[in-house]
Amino acid sequence: MTDYFRQHLGARLLLSYLAIILVGMIVLIIASQFILPASFNRHMAGMGPMNNGMMGGQGRGERVGALPFYLEFRASFNEALIYAGLAAAVVAVVLSIYLSRSVIAPVSAMSHAAQRIADGRYDERVQVSGEDELAQLALRFNQMAEKLDQVEAMRRRLIGDVSHELRTPLTAIKGSMEGLMDGVLPATQETYQQIHMEADRLNRLVDDLQELSRVESHAYQLDIRPVDISALVQTVTKRLASQAESKRVSLDLDLAPDLPPLLADEHRAVQILTNLTGNALQYTPEDGTVTISAKRTNNEIQISVRDTGIGIPPEHLSNIFDRFYRADKSRSRRAGGGSGIGLTIARALVEAHGGRIWAESAGEGQGSTFTFILPVAK
Ligand SMILES: Nc1ncnc2c1ncn2[C@@H]1O[C@H](COP(=O)(O)OP(=O)(O)OP(=O)(O)O)[C@@H](O)[C@H]1O
Ligand SMILES: [Mg+2]
Repeated sequence: MTDYFRQHLGARLLLSYLAIILVGMIVLIIASQFILPASFNRHMAGMGPMNNGMMGGQGRGERVGALPFYLEFRASFNEALIYAGLAAAVVAVVLSIYLSRSVIAPVSAMSHAAQRIADGRYDERVQVSGEDELAQLALRFNQMAEKLDQVEAMRRRLIGDVSHELRTPLTAIKGSMEGLMDGVLPATQETYQQIHMEADRLNRLVDDLQELSRVESHAYQLDIRPVDISALVQTVTKRLASQAESKRVSLDLDLAPDLPPLLADEHRAVQILTNLTGNALQYTPEDGTVTISAKRTNNEIQISVRDTGIGIPPEHLSNIFDRFYRADKSRSRRAGGGSGIGLTIARALVEAHGGRIWAESAGEGQGSTFTFILPVAK
């Protein structure tokens, strides 16, 4: 029984109401013991000399006349008290049922939903009605469930994507090895090179994944200090000069004069710009142009990488920063085999600096511009 009350808020509510009623009645009974006789006496006194109270009266006859009167009065008072108590108890039951419905029902619905979410059913939601604190709680609960649902979906997608990405080069390596063993493929330099290239791809993918997980989980320290923009751009162009040359794409600079240094981790800023410029070179056909430009806007430095390459169809623009996203998978593979992680890392790094990054393109074949903003060093 005590366990029942301990486990049910509604029963405890009812019990507390009944306790209040009981205390009220006891106090009323005790108080009436003292107050009623005196008040009765006063009333009797007011009615005339014959009925001069039941106690403390002058004559015995007077007392005998008043006592039954008083007892009857008391009995009807007690009867009224019992009816009042019963009415109060009924109200207490009705109120506690009502409160159970309006308070306990949503809370226990949330408790059940939480249990189902804990069991892995992330699509569970509770009904939100009204605007009170309970409705707010239900709203927050649903938001939390939504977030969990998204994280779970992302985790599942990530595992699917990663295994898919790993499978492609692995299948190629395995196929080539089997071909070599069966003597179907000639044991030439070219075959070995092909296998090495796939292994290299696998290696790069694993490195990229590791870098992505480090960057996304903020498991690295940013060494923020003033960075000279022209030195930054020089480092990147030097690094990518041979790639540009071999692709016969011209790599131009367009830096505003008197640029103040920007505030960033130099190594990471180089990584971001290398990423964007590398993409621009990768997705720009021969005789195209890639231009790195930098200018100041208020307290920020805006660095853009513009190319005259294949462009990005508008429907892909909002997704290309998502991990493993490629605007055209087959084309990206042919164009050098990107895995679609580079921009995700770049965005995470820019955002870790408190900056922004975005892409613009007029459409397929119209070239693209990638821009990021970092703060100016004061
Ligand atoms: N300059 C660009 N011009 C056209 N498309 C681009 C450009 N930069 C990126 N993209 C598109 O965005 C996609 C994602 O780019 P991201 O750099 O993240 O991946 P990737 O280059 O395919 O592979 P990697 O992880 O090796 O960089 C690319 O696959 C490509 O479709
Ligand atoms: Mg890339």
